[in-house]
Amino acid sequence: MKSRLRSIRIASAALLFAFLPPLAHATKDVPFVPTSDEVAVAMLKLAGVGPADHVIDLGSGDGRIVIAAAKQFGASGLGVEVVPDLVAKSIANAKRAGVEAKVKFVEQDLFQASLAAATVVTLYLMPDVNLKLRPSLLELKAGTRIVSHDWDMGDWKPDRTVSVEGWGAKRGVRRTSNLHLWVVPGDFDGLWCGEGNATGTRIVLNQEYQRATATVSNVRGVHFIEAKIDAARLSSTGGEGQLTAEEKDGQMHVRTAGGPLAHLAGTSFTKSCCGSCAY
Ligand SMILES: C[S@@+](CC[C@H](N)C(=O)[O-])C[C@H]1O[C@@H](n2cnc3c(N)ncnc32)[C@H](O)[C@@H]1O
Repeated sequence: MKSRLRSIRIASAALLFAFLPPLAHATKDVPFVPTSDEVAVAMLKLAGVGPADHVIDLGSGDGRIVIAAAKQFGASGLGVEVVPDLVAKSIANAKRAGVEAKVKFVEQDLFQASLAAATVVTLYLMPDVNLKLRPSLLELKAGTRIVSHDWDMGDWKPDRTVSVEGWGAKRGVRRTSNLHLWVVPGDFDGLWCGEGNATGTRIVLNQEYQRATATVSNVRGVHFIEAKIDAARLSSTGGEGQLTAEEKDGQMHVRTAGGPLAHLAGTSFTKSCCGSCAY
């Protein structure tokens, strides 16, 4: 049923693009259909883009999202586009907008692009392309924001969705765009072994995107909690005891703890490499 629904959605996405004005460029995975300027600004606002951000638009078309990020929000940016004419047009548009020092456009397959420097990734692709990109997006630094125009990421549910009205690709036609925002969650999944005052405590975390369940066990007993993950921060939402923790480079630092887990406040855990703790 799920895969039937997905095929219907992919078919309707293809149909939407098929009815747009004649496509001027042969493209690899998605045709060139520009996001309107007002929707581009709404995407950047949804991601909370500011001067400290580096925005990468995958399939950047004529460069408008990256150029708006630089001109209106002070960010730096990179556009990755497979069609050479569109890359040339983007470079000319950036010059015209006076932001050529802040942005770069490269002719490259978006699946080959390095995303490590991105703090924000923008997409206006197709549902199946989003799904193919999903594993690489999930590996980005915790807290990286991803905004997709219209298409979602399957069972990785967005943190926020907004609907905005803007001009469609067809002249004179207004349409509603759905804009989805995801904040890349930290990698909490696995077995964590307590150190220092927490030696002897094991936390097994089962993570599904921005949600997790955790079993905390030590000589005091076994406690179960449910938690949400917001960027690198995990916060309990239910279960036995309260916990907030932050993940960084394979270490989990417990910031606050309450109830039967109160003794864990201020302790640190290391992620087990091999399915067991040394105690
Ligand atoms: C729907 S348009 C979006 C353009 C721009 N991001 C915007 O929102 O205005 C998709 C763009 O992706 C480009 N594209 C398609 N497949 C690609 C690939 N494999 N690598 C890089 N760019 C690609 C197309 O040429 C097109 O410009």
